[in-house]
Amino acid sequence: MSKIFKFLKGISLLVQKPYLINLILKEEGLLASRFKKRFPNLELQEIDVFAWPEAQQIQLKTMSFLSGSSLPTDFALLQVLCSKYQVENYFEIGTWRGESAANVAPFVKQVNTLNLSDTQLKALGCEDAYIQAHRTFSKDLQNVNHLFGDSAHFDLSPYEKQMDLIFIDGDHSLEAVRRDTQRMLRLRKNENSILVWHDAKSDTEYPRYDVLQGIFEGLPQAMHPNVYLVKHALCAVYLPAGHPSTKLSLHEKPNKVFSVTLKREVFPN
Ligand SMILES: C[S@@+](CC[C@H](N)C(=O)[O-])C[C@H]1O[C@@H](n2cnc3c(N)ncnc32)[C@H](O)[C@@H]1O
Repeated sequence: MSKIFKFLKGISLLVQKPYLINLILKEEGLLASRFKKRFPNLELQEIDVFAWPEAQQIQLKTMSFLSGSSLPTDFALLQVLCSKYQVENYFEIGTWRGESAANVAPFVKQVNTLNLSDTQLKALGCEDAYIQAHRTFSKDLQNVNHLFGDSAHFDLSPYEKQMDLIFIDGDHSLEAVRRDTQRMLRLRKNENSILVWHDAKSDTEYPRYDVLQGIFEGLPQAMHPNVYLVKHALCAVYLPAGHPSTKLSLHEKPNKVFSVTLKREVFPN
């Protein structure tokens, strides 16, 4: 197809289906250049949590491997951080099936997990099956406190200055990530509290620049040097104590390999 024909075909498709403009506006190259314009002096850094002694052997007990699920390495990251930093109070935005909550629960005193309520999800036009899948793995866990509401407005005052680790995994648009990041700062127990964002990468190597822009715009500039992308996972993390890190690089030669045993169990519904 010639360039001019492709251009005309594109215009005709945009006229017929205007929502396709979103695909253009969300093109990763465009998002990357917008991010670099916004933060010209910022160099993305990576941290290799899976090289830490605490990450030598990790057992994950609740994995659904269903659409949109986090990666095993994302849950493993949360467990390693909770163990290494003796996290007691954990707060997350985004419960969904309760998988992250269930994977963290054995490692902390209290999991607080916030999600839009079923009624709010219904009002947004979500399918019943999607709504019913919420909390599947977390609903019966003793130390999981389910909170319902929109992270944009939810009253955070009972949780202020109490949380050791905050996991932001709700709405992943730039504006929502910026807002959630800003709002979550007040929940930190102290300057050692940790923040983790999901989907800061589009796969385990490539950054997701709209989410990263939300993260860096949501944080005070003084916190920027301590934000790291996590090798082998989709997350970014804010770690207060400086850690050895490397400049983000793509297509590195592997320096470690993981082995996985899959064990299936029936989950009673
Ligand atoms: C990616 S899922 C969370 C996955 C979960 N953390 C895990 O790893 O198992 C995102 C969830 O955030 C919820 N969500 C989206 N926007 C939200 C908002 N503004 N406030 C609260 N929850 C929200 C959605 O209903 C969805 O269940």
